Amino acid sequence: MEEQMKIVETIQDLRSHLKLERVQGNLIGFVPTMGYLHNGHAALMQEARQANDVGVLSIFVNPTQFGPNEDYHTYPRDLERDTEIARANHVDYIFYPTVEEMYSTANSSVSVTVHHGTDILCGKSRPTHFDGVATVVTKLLNIIQPDRVYFGMKDAQQLAIVKQLVRDLSIPVEVCAVEIVRESDNLALSSRNVRLNAQERIDAICLYQTLSHVRSLLDQGYEVEQAILFGREFFNKISKLGQLDYLEAYAFPGLTQLQSEDKQGLLAIAVQYENARLIDNMIIDF
Ligand code: PAF
Repeated sequence: MEEQMKIVETIQDLRSHLKLERVQGNLIGFVPTMGYLHNGHAALMQEARQANDVGVLSIFVNPTQFGPNEDYHTYPRDLERDTEIARANHVDYIFYPTVEEMYSTANSSVSVTVHHGTDILCGKSRPTHFDGVATVVTKLLNIIQPDRVYFGMKDAQQLAIVKQLVRDLSIPVEVCAVEIVRESDNLALSSRNVRLNAQERIDAICLYQTLSHVRSLLDQGYEVEQAILFGREFFNKISKLGQLDYLEAYAFPGLTQLQSEDKQGLLAIAVQYENARLIDNMIIDF
């Protein structure tokens, strides 16, 4: 019979549970989230559970990755629903710490600063975001010490930064990427999609359509810069309600300017709706 899923709120308790798992030789797969789980998270949990003996899911809306005028306080939260989804996906432990548990010292003096790849794409309009992500991910990896950690490709910039973080700080974990999960009309799943009104929800397919348009121009042989310019025009034609934040391409996973010798590029888009900022991307092979 399968063991009961445990919800653990303190670092100390989680460490004791996971120590026992490790003593038994169990491999630990970890999925960090901010909750309000959807099928994109479910794909991460399934991968984590399939490739490892134990699945740990963290649910923590991390204040340090939100800017002062961002949606930290209104970020959707629903532990009961999340618990059901986690149970259905055979998670063994939910780590559900409070802000005080994660950032216990009011005047903590150490955080992680990322020096590359944070002033482009989402980092441009969210200048402190990736330092907040890097700090909390480092803390979570230190607390859980998983064998593998799972990130969705939808946040491709986050994934690239976390890979770099793990390399640079020599954190002993394998970073695994999981494909974007989409609705039937190709809108990428996101916890923020619930904030779209009915009209915006229809409009929001423009993210994927714009990416696909640029990709087809690249397939036809257009230069990246030209294809992106046409892509921006295309977006402005098809979206009536969204404000284009960016449509850009960078080398992936290096997040440097694309050069002719690059083999893979990240084509990424961000769009602001009234109450939700949505992102999406495609990996382009050259
Ligand atoms: O992708 C997210 O949900 C968050 O950025 C993460 C990785 C859980 C860190 O808070």
